Amino acid sequence: MKSDKVILSGKGVTKIFGFGSNKTVAVDHVDFSFREGEVISIVGESGSGKTTLAKILLGLLKQTEGEIYFDGQLRDIRSHSKKKAYWQNIQAIFQDPFSSYNVFRKIDAVLLDCIRMRGGGRLPYDKKREMMREACSFVNLKFDELTNKYPFELSGGQQQRLMIARIFLLKPKILLADEPTSMIDACSRATILDMLMDLRNEVGMTPIFITHDIGLAYYVSDTVYIMEHGKFVESGSADAVILHPKKQYTQRLLSDVPKLHEEWDLSTV
Ligand SMILES: Nc1ncnc2c1ncn2[C@@H]1O[C@H](COP(=O)(O)OP(=O)(O)OP(=O)(O)O)[C@@H](O)[C@H]1O
Ligand SMILES: [Mg+2]
Repeated sequence: MKSDKVILSGKGVTKIFGFGSNKTVAVDHVDFSFREGEVISIVGESGSGKTTLAKILLGLLKQTEGEIYFDGQLRDIRSHSKKKAYWQNIQAIFQDPFSSYNVFRKIDAVLLDCIRMRGGGRLPYDKKREMMREACSFVNLKFDELTNKYPFELSGGQQQRLMIARIFLLKPKILLADEPTSMIDACSRATILDMLMDLRNEVGMTPIFITHDIGLAYYVSDTVYIMEHGKFVESGSADAVILHPKKQYTQRLLSDVPKLHEEWDLSTV
């Protein structure tokens, strides 16, 4: 799945909010290089700069310093049309799914927008309905029960699955998932993760998980970046970083999940 081609990379990416005594260095000279198909996790405690970095990667926030390269070229999203073209390649699922939807658009309109964004605006409606139905069934939602509803009429778990249905239609090269599973129970959390991983196989996507949960990072990723106070303090293969952490900070994150990094002791079972 993982190729050697670098799809997204950054050099010296920095974001400073505010001025003078009010200054916050949210992201501090980070370097990274994400390969196509690689499953990446960015792990760090609250306030370490994860969401800020995610927004920079998405082009929703402008970095104060540093460069971002997409597909081997310096990213250029200065014009609206270039930004729209970039968003065909990179999409996100956010902490709070509700905030990602326009509350005045019904669910079928939300999904039709995705088809339009992929250039399918002129397809016959039958074909569009077929695509929407397929996307919904991929995430175990029933399209026919949803068409006339608004996103806020769905449960939290259904909203998150609807977000994945959108991604299914959009087929971006990169998917940023900022704590996609935080508001649902552990069982549906595993289902959502499985769906995202299936989707990765289906469309050859590069998923980037942003999380506090180092256990989740270990479970899903090829490569883990550990973020502290806006910096990447440690990175490498999930095994190297999580089984043999070099930094105390990483060890501290790990101590929240005490069993994970220890060998399973089967003798007592
Ligand atoms: N728009 C903003 N204006 C000023 N400061 C901000 C802004 N957004 C974020 N910050 C600050 O930047 C730092 C990093 O915030 P960020 O949201 O990126 O953290 P995070 O790692 O995503 O945390 P969490 O795990 O709680 O979501 C914090 O100190 C935060 O207060
Ligand atoms: Mg965040």
